[in-house]
Amino acid sequence: MPGTADAANFKLGMRSLAGAVSIITSSHQGRLFGMTATAVCSAAAEPPTVLVCINQVTTTHQAIVEAGVFCVNVLRHEDRELSSLFSGVQKGEGRFREEHWTRLATGAPVLHSALVSFDCKVVNRLVHGTHTIFLGEVERLQIGKKGKPLLYSDGQYAKLASLAHGEPLPEGLDYWGE
Ligand SMILES: Cc1cc2nc3c(=O)[nH]c(=O)nc-3n(C[C@H](O)[C@H](O)[C@H](O)COP(=O)(O)O)c2cc1C
Repeated sequence: MPGTADAANFKLGMRSLAGAVSIITSSHQGRLFGMTATAVCSAAAEPPTVLVCINQVTTTHQAIVEAGVFCVNVLRHEDRELSSLFSGVQKGEGRFREEHWTRLATGAPVLHSALVSFDCKVVNRLVHGTHTIFLGEVERLQIGKKGKPLLYSDGQYAKLASLAHGEPLPEGLDYWGE
């Protein structure tokens, strides 16, 4: 059905995109910042660069602008609770429990249990409407043990029915609660 290109229809359409869930962190003047995000993608391999889209009203946005660093921590599906914590259930530095986090190059928090963490310095940014698109050049990365990503699709968390490791063909996304 054709529809008006307004924010409500746009968000409705975007529910169809299954996205990997990450926690984007930063650190500024000794304080820790972090939030859940799906608007993350690979931007270039040489130099290794990631792209993240962050709403300007978030607390993490200002920290990334001021500190010029961020870390993308890609969540495994077991870490669904962390995603909720970092998207509003908890506020501020209370989101960080010391035993879960370390640091690599930039000082932005790096999640021990992440599938992979990309520790980046901001090399470019573009303000567009509500969001800022940050390009981050990867200074260091940490690849965790193999696992399945946490996904978000149609407004709910999901995990992948994977084709990898010789597993049988998937019937589709494996939603919680079904
Ligand atoms: C699954 C999921 C994905 C999200 N993706 C993004 C995103 O890509 N960019 C963004 O700005 N906010 C995203 N959000 C919203 C932020 O996580 C949320 O607004 C967060 O509370 C912001 O942190 P703050 O409360 O410290 O400002 C997402 C939330 C969820 C649950």
